Amino acid sequence: MPESDIAALKRAAAARALEFVQEGMKLGLGTGSTAEAFLELLGERVRGGLTVICSASSERTALNAKDRGIPIAPLAGLAPLDLTVDGADEADRDFNLIKGGGGALLREKIVANASNRMIVIADGSKLVERLGRFPLPVEVAEFGHGVTAEGIRRSLRECGHDGVAVALRQSGDAAYRTDGGNVIYDCALGSIAQPKRVADALKSITGVVEHGLFIDLATTLIVAHTFERIEVLERARNA
Ligand code: 5RP
Repeated sequence: MPESDIAALKRAAAARALEFVQEGMKLGLGTGSTAEAFLELLGERVRGGLTVICSASSERTALNAKDRGIPIAPLAGLAPLDLTVDGADEADRDFNLIKGGGGALLREKIVANASNRMIVIADGSKLVERLGRFPLPVEVAEFGHGVTAEGIRRSLRECGHDGVAVALRQSGDAAYRTDGGNVIYDCALGSIAQPKRVADALKSITGVVEHGLFIDLATTLIVAHTFERIEVLERARNA
């Protein structure tokens, strides 16, 4: 599919998500191109008189929102948020996600955790049978990160993922740095049969700050397959 069509589908999913936004809401704003499509539409509504207050999941999103006249405030003063709208690198029909392709996974997870509801917006290519084709980002403290990477490989092996390429993300000639000053290892798992097990294993490694598996966080998936077919999946309460 041409890039311009994918961008239009992201915008269609974003437009559907905007229907969930109500006057006076406290919103969490995601990061990435799909989240930016939502920001653009939200900005138009705010300039048209809608009152909302938002927390951003990255410096990039905060700047972008301010440029569009969307008010931004620190998360601590706003939580709990009514709703977070964010993109994803992959989503399955059990509402599990891989996020962090844009490097904002830690703040995205903090914001999502502080929200009563998380709507994930995506074009149809992001909805998968099983997570893992997209390399799983793992955010790691810079100090001794090579040692932590060994721990990640070992831990993945224990979860049945042997010989996984665990690659330090680069930005030009240097290691990529997150907003929090950490580095990211992208783990090419291929197919994740037990996302919860992998999530728990990664979380228990000293030096791992956060990983990109979002389990039990998304409450709604809005997936634009075509302009005529926008699927809205709602997770059953307490499921
Ligand atoms: C950023 C993310 C993004 O939501 C994810 O990478 C999807 O990005 P895009 O909407 O550009 O495809 O997790 O950390």
